Amino acid sequence: MLEISNLIKRYGHDEPVLKGLDLAVEDNSVIAIVGASGAGKSTLLRCINRLVEPTSGSIKLNGTEIVNLRHRDLRRVRRKIGMVFQGFNLIDRLTVMENVLAGRLGYVSLFQAVTRRYPAADIERAFVLMERVGIAHYANKRADELSGGERQRVGVVRALMQEPEVLLADEPTASLDPRTSEQIMVLLQSLASELSLPVLINIHNVAQARSYTDRIVGLRHGTMIFDGTPGDFDKEALDTIYGGIEAPEDDTAPPPSSGEREKEAPHDAT
Ligand SMILES: Nc1ncnc2c1ncn2[C@@H]1O[C@H](COP(=O)(O)OP(=O)(O)OP(=O)(O)O)[C@@H](O)[C@H]1O
Ligand SMILES: [Mg+2]
Repeated sequence: MLEISNLIKRYGHDEPVLKGLDLAVEDNSVIAIVGASGAGKSTLLRCINRLVEPTSGSIKLNGTEIVNLRHRDLRRVRRKIGMVFQGFNLIDRLTVMENVLAGRLGYVSLFQAVTRRYPAADIERAFVLMERVGIAHYANKRADELSGGERQRVGVVRALMQEPEVLLADEPTASLDPRTSEQIMVLLQSLASELSLPVLINIHNVAQARSYTDRIVGLRHGTMIFDGTPGDFDKEALDTIYGGIEAPEDDTAPPPSSGEREKEAPHDAT
């Protein structure tokens, strides 16, 4: 379980980007974080994995306070936090297997890593997970030979190799075509329940947020202004979060039945 209380993040002397956020995310729960560009969504995820330093507040992962951890303790907690990126962040010239095994870097010794002598159990786990997401047959392919959707599956498996206790995804589908991005959303949704993980997904595609998550949190100027089920997320919520300008009206329409999902709300350029 992830518990965030009174989280404040201020960059320099500017106005805070996160203004006292409270958020608890249960295991098995997939949360969409929506909000206009600059609302603070990426900052929130980066505070959780401590890529940026929270100014104040508390972030607890399964009871462990993450804020203020240093050095070895920080590394130890960080490996429990899986991260999936919009741009996949793979190393192109390495194989799929090598990219996946990079998820073990927080666990193996430097010697094992540089000589690529990963324990057999890691390699076995890598195959199981790659099989699970349908990329095992690409194990020896170079990462840059894969399609976007396949690359994102590699990104997801790499995160899972960390044996994470929480999965954070920053616009994981924004670079993918509509059908592929739905497949990735379905994958994240099923992994949350299979692995009993809290999953937080920053997403601009409101229709997908409504279809594939359990709960939607809306941020505006660093403040949570919506927290509810996809069913509660109506036109009024959309207008409040985006100020009535960013998302088209038909985003609030019920999700289309499977097989006719090609038409998607446009993604924000970021
Ligand atoms: N390293 C930084 N230094 C200073 N200001 C920053 C830094 N990172 C982000 N900001 C500012 O914080 C605010 C929130 O940024 P953030 O990236 O969290 O927004 P976002 O909701 O993820 O937006 P987007 O939807 O465009 O990805 C923005 O005004 C941004 O300019
Ligand atoms: Mg962002």
